[in-house]
Amino acid sequence: MSVRNLSVRALLFLGIFQVGRRGLASAPELKEQPKKIAVVGGGIGGTAAAYFLRQEFGASVKIDVFEAETIGGRLATEKIGEQEYETGGSVIHPLNLHMKHFVDRIGLSVRTDVPSKMAIFDGKELTFEESDWFIVNFLRMLWRYGFNSLRMHMWVEGILDKFMRIYQYQQFGYSFSSVEQLLHAMGGASFLTLLNQTLEEAMVADGFSQSFINDIVTPITRVNYGQSVRFSAFVGAVSLAGADSGLWAVDGGNKRVCSGLLYHSKAELIQAQVTSVSVKMRPSKSGSVASLYEVNYIGDAGSAHSLYDIVILATPLHQGLSDISFSGFSPPIPSHFPGRYHQTVSTLVLGRVNVSYLGFSQKPSDFVFSDILTQDMKGLVINSLSSLDPVHIPPGYRRPPASESKVWKVFSPEPLKEEQLREIFLSWEGIWEKKWLAYPSYTPPQRRSPPFILHDRLYYLSPIEWAASCMEMSALSARNVVLLAHHRWHGHSAKIDQEDLHTRLRGEL
Ligand SMILES: Cc1cc2nc3c(=O)[nH]c(=O)nc-3n(C[C@H](O)[C@H](O)[C@H](O)COP(=O)(O)OP(=O)(O)OC[C@H]3O[C@@H](n4cnc5c(N)ncnc54)[C@H](O)[C@@H]3O)c2cc1C
Ligand SMILES: *[C@@H]1O[C@H](CO)[C@@H](O)[C@H](O)[C@H]1NC(C)=O
Ligand SMILES: *[C@@H]1O[C@H](CO)[C@@H](O)[C@H](O)[C@H]1NC(C)=O
Repeated sequence: MSVRNLSVRALLFLGIFQVGRRGLASAPELKEQPKKIAVVGGGIGGTAAAYFLRQEFGASVKIDVFEAETIGGRLATEKIGEQEYETGGSVIHPLNLHMKHFVDRIGLSVRTDVPSKMAIFDGKELTFEESDWFIVNFLRMLWRYGFNSLRMHMWVEGILDKFMRIYQYQQFGYSFSSVEQLLHAMGGASFLTLLNQTLEEAMVADGFSQSFINDIVTPITRVNYGQSVRFSAFVGAVSLAGADSGLWAVDGGNKRVCSGLLYHSKAELIQAQVTSVSVKMRPSKSGSVASLYEVNYIGDAGSAHSLYDIVILATPLHQGLSDISFSGFSPPIPSHFPGRYHQTVSTLVLGRVNVSYLGFSQKPSDFVFSDILTQDMKGLVINSLSSLDPVHIPPGYRRPPASESKVWKVFSPEPLKEEQLREIFLSWEGIWEKKWLAYPSYTPPQRRSPPFILHDRLYYLSPIEWAASCMEMSALSARNVVLLAHHRWHGHSAKIDQEDLHTRLRGEL
């Protein structure tokens, strides 16, 4: 329905992306450009940062991207037979404009859509089955939940509408020094309240019925974030937007965006684990003392270090996800910030599913559902079960029926034991398990997110994940810290933490 109207607006914004290259880079330079910039982490956040750094700081700056494992980070694929399958971040919302822009810019394409149907499982039987017919789905929802479903779309759209303001702010070069400032600029106090309330509280307060929340909303938060509706309302809204129509993925695998951005940024990839960052004082030409950052790292050739004017950290400093220590900083910077990341285990199974496990009594070949979400029920060990299509859909592709052996993806909070797999699958030819510390464990009321600015010219983009973790959030945080880095380097404080931007920029479009 009105997603269509929004898409028109999306196109408008995209238009601006192409033509509206802001005048900043050509503004009179108050200071010489930085010579060397380091980015730590080669996921979507780090590679987007490298791309935006090149755009803001020009051709001459040397940009190094450190990656300890593989480019893509939480965007990763697994090769099964001749095909690859997404094991981490998989779907992108139609209004994720940074991701859209990257794909266009790099020259990638959107993966061919294979229609799919969703069902909801309560541990015993399927409690909701999507039909081919929009009107049937609509009437079923209407019959059971009144207008809850329609109102949910409007609720999410209201939030998305405010969310979209960030693209205009960034287009005009505005940046924010904390997650809270950024959210406040998008949606005012009501956005900050969404961080401090549970999704359940927010929806109950807005008049949604408890049965709708349990039966429909919970399965969506479980598949997207492995968490119940008692997590924060902001990430809850992002999660519900993830149930909109028009979701897409990148042909050939989402991680191709990361390697493409890296290539376009002309940054150098340093395949190494960064172990520490420290501040070093250096006398400068003018006689004053300037500080530089020393990045220490261990790669194949042993340990080494390099000096940088600016450093951007694009990996969470939580729970051993990065293990970077900081020295020489006052006040000190901790190597681990408080807060836990939630474990989601992604198990790919090439095999035949046991449709009776799902309470389906007809023939397996009649089982037409490819996405099975789950209610929050005691004893249920899985969060979701989906039939996976490869990252590239060959011409003439047809998704195999449930009676045949094919690739399934199970999300669960704990690794599945063999006897649990034996219940869900009749047989298998292979199993690939990936344990992710996938996204934060969101428990409102939320403590303040870590700052984007850890020190003078040392930036940190992952705090955005404490509002919500997804590819687009890392990308927009990358844009934000690069703008911050640029403005602070050149002393343009008027572009940082401005109040009331929405009203001020209203006339500009
Ligand atoms: C199972 C799962 C499903 C998801 N589903 C979706 C989805 O459908 N849609 C969506 O938009 N998002 C989804 N997400 C979230 C999304 O994948 C992440 O929000 C996003 O990929 C984070 O990107 P990032 O670059 O910020 O961090 P990361 O991808 O974690 O990148 C950080 C990188 O830094 C590297 N690194 C860490 N420490 C060091 C060090 N000391 N030195 C050098 N390198 C280091 C790591 O190896 C890693 O490559 C999902 C995530 C998971 C796990
Ligand atoms: C399939 O699932 C049903 C219901 O859980 C179970 O009783 C049956 O044993 C399973 N079949 C196999 C072959 O494991
Ligand atoms: C959220 O809750 C925390 C802890 O109760 C509090 O410190 C903070 O001020 C609250 N923030 C908002 C925006 O209400």
